[in-house]
Amino acid sequence: MSVLIKNGRVVTAVDDYRADIFVDGERVALIGRDLEIAAERVIDATGRLVIPGGVDPHTHMEMPFGGTESSDTFETGTRAAAFGGTTCIVDFAMQSRGASTLEGLDTWHGKAAGNAAIDYAFHMIITDLPERRAPEMRRLADEGVTSYKLFMAYPGAMLADDATIFRAMRRAGEDGTLVCMHAENGVVIDELVKAALAAGHVEPKYHALTRPTRLEAEGAHRALAIAEVARAPVYIVHLSCYDALTELRRAQERGVMAHAETCPHYLLLDAGAYDEPGFGNARYVLTPPLREKWNQDELWRGLRSNDLDVISTDHCPFCMREQKELGRGDFSRIPNGGPGVENRMSLIYHHGVNAGRIDVNRFVELTSTAPARIFGMFPRKGTIAVGSDADIVIFDPQREVTISSSDPRTHHMNVDYSAYEGFEVRGFTETVISRGRVIVDKGEYVGRPGQGQYVKRGPYGGAYAPQAAAGWTGADSGQRRGNAPED
Ligand code: URP
Ligand code: ZN
Ligand code: ZN
Repeated sequence: MSVLIKNGRVVTAVDDYRADIFVDGERVALIGRDLEIAAERVIDATGRLVIPGGVDPHTHMEMPFGGTESSDTFETGTRAAAFGGTTCIVDFAMQSRGASTLEGLDTWHGKAAGNAAIDYAFHMIITDLPERRAPEMRRLADEGVTSYKLFMAYPGAMLADDATIFRAMRRAGEDGTLVCMHAENGVVIDELVKAALAAGHVEPKYHALTRPTRLEAEGAHRALAIAEVARAPVYIVHLSCYDALTELRRAQERGVMAHAETCPHYLLLDAGAYDEPGFGNARYVLTPPLREKWNQDELWRGLRSNDLDVISTDHCPFCMREQKELGRGDFSRIPNGGPGVENRMSLIYHHGVNAGRIDVNRFVELTSTAPARIFGMFPRKGTIAVGSDADIVIFDPQREVTISSSDPRTHHMNVDYSAYEGFEVRGFTETVISRGRVIVDKGEYVGRPGQGQYVKRGPYGGAYAPQAAAGWTGADSGQRRGNAPED
């Protein structure tokens, strides 16, 4: 299949120019002015932005949690992502406690293969790492899983102790891989939860009241200090507040190789949502919880100043019906997480670019280029360049929509509510090309489950890893050196 995209405004993290793009097979073959080339499909992108497909490095499709499973499968969740202009996700595969991480990886391959609409990669959630299992980290890297998530929260389920975190970081530092940290002091949070329940405080808002920002900041501080001593890079996931951002900045000033992401819900929703009476506010039981509104300006400032690197979604949907319901009468049983994979690009374009908080290049960088680079997929993903995968979004910067779970144009996620119900945005995905194939055509899905392929990632490629970039053998190979045992 060949595609010629004519007359668009091509925007990457660093470029902004008018050009035509010729896609031959799965890759970008030629970029130039007024290209006269025969193509099987010609798309007129006049008045549109032509941007690299979004890369969402934090999703949980069909993830077991609290006796249920997140409600989007790889089929439904990746199709929704495509509608929203995301062409690659990095989902969290999970080790069952006591079992091999490689088994966990097999399980996640089984869920995704043949079902995904867009390309996907995996991080590995490590729940325990006895010394005899530590070599698995290198084996995972050989399989293209070059980042791991460890939790300081959820004692008895996913929490990893500091010794485990230190061991994992030291290995990651040696191997050129990356530890992602869920930074919250889960042990103290558990005490607060027990005390709240004992006092009869069972409503959803107590989820937020038992997870103060200071305990996220303490987790971030500890993770950053351990990484510093381990001489390893670290990536703080779903950073939600100024307290934790301050710890991140302090560590960066000390030279710690510290990265962090925040998410649209921390930028656009706030703790006022928990004041809604009744059980409806269980929609916002996600972790860390929504924070006081003033934190939002600080997070935007952190995105502008490059202290925060990425905007991911932490897409982890649970239906109100039957799933969030599990915690009626005990907020600690409400499955944690919310939907968003479909809405990220429009929300950030509107509230970031249209609102003058970030420019259009930074928008692309935060939603595509930086996650591709940090997680070892750049320049195959995350940009529009000759030789890169033709993951391209034609984005209408003028189209106005109101996001609603009852509007089939804005809601394809398999969940019975939208976290952004009634949000009006200007800027909407029109057409999506995934590795050279049109999969969303002017708002209509024309792809098939299974067209998305597994992306075997290279090593950590953050700003602190020039040696990793030096090993890149070119967009054609899709691989970098650095992970093989013989290196
Ligand atoms: O509430 C959340 N974030 N659920 C998903 C699990 C996690 O901690 O990322
Ligand atoms: Zn987490
Ligand atoms: Zn998550």
